Amino acid sequence: MSVRRFLQATPQIGANTYVDDMAVVIGNVTIGDDSSVWPFASIRGDIHHITIGERTSIQDGCVLHVTHDSEYHPGGQPLIIGNDVTVGHKVTLHACTISSLCIIGMGSIVLDKAVIESEVILGAGSLVPPGKTLESRYLWVGAPAVKKRPLTEKELAFIRYSATSYVKLKNNYLSQSK
Ligand SMILES: CC(C)(COP(=O)(O)OP(=O)(O)OC[C@H]1O[C@@H](n2cnc3c(N)ncnc32)[C@H](O)[C@@H]1OP(=O)(O)O)[C@@H](O)C(=O)NCCC(=O)NCCS
Repeated sequence: MSVRRFLQATPQIGANTYVDDMAVVIGNVTIGDDSSVWPFASIRGDIHHITIGERTSIQDGCVLHVTHDSEYHPGGQPLIIGNDVTVGHKVTLHACTISSLCIIGMGSIVLDKAVIESEVILGAGSLVPPGKTLESRYLWVGAPAVKKRPLTEKELAFIRYSATSYVKLKNNYLSQSK
């Protein structure tokens, strides 16, 4: 079963959200409407909560996890992802915040307490260090990620297009599974 309860917490999955049978969503996880979770993604809300917005895609092989409360990390740290976010293949998101309308390039790693502001493209294979904030409407690339250039109007429009195209794709998967 791909959506599993852990202790008292059962994942809350929004209307018309697609979770592939080969993905796993565990525990204190909330996913908004019209989002999608693709094969081999693991979203594990066992030691803190994970919140994912609407029309957001979590693509194949992604790993999403959180940090627990301890003397090293008082209060722990949840993982928050906004609306219309494209999280590319094999991305690792750990206890960070991804604002709405971002593209997280495939293979990237985003560490604890990092904040990616809205309308950012993070290049494939990037690493965002703990606690770093990536400024809105810029292209950020590399390990560690650096601010490369402002996004063009075409790229800003593409961010929405990317989210919308994944909504259409998951609708096809949902209609097939009825
Ligand atoms: C970031 C990206 C969009 C940039 O594409 P682009 O328009 O060709 O970028 P630019 O030509 O303006 O590159 C700007 C600079 O960043 C560098 N760069 C681009 N992508 C990079 C990356 N992923 N990692 C490191 N550097 C990168 C370029 O080499 C260039 O460097 P320079 O200034 O030293 O010449 C693209 O490379 C990318 O990584 N896309 C991610 C796609 C993806 O994973 N989508 C997820 C859904 S499937």
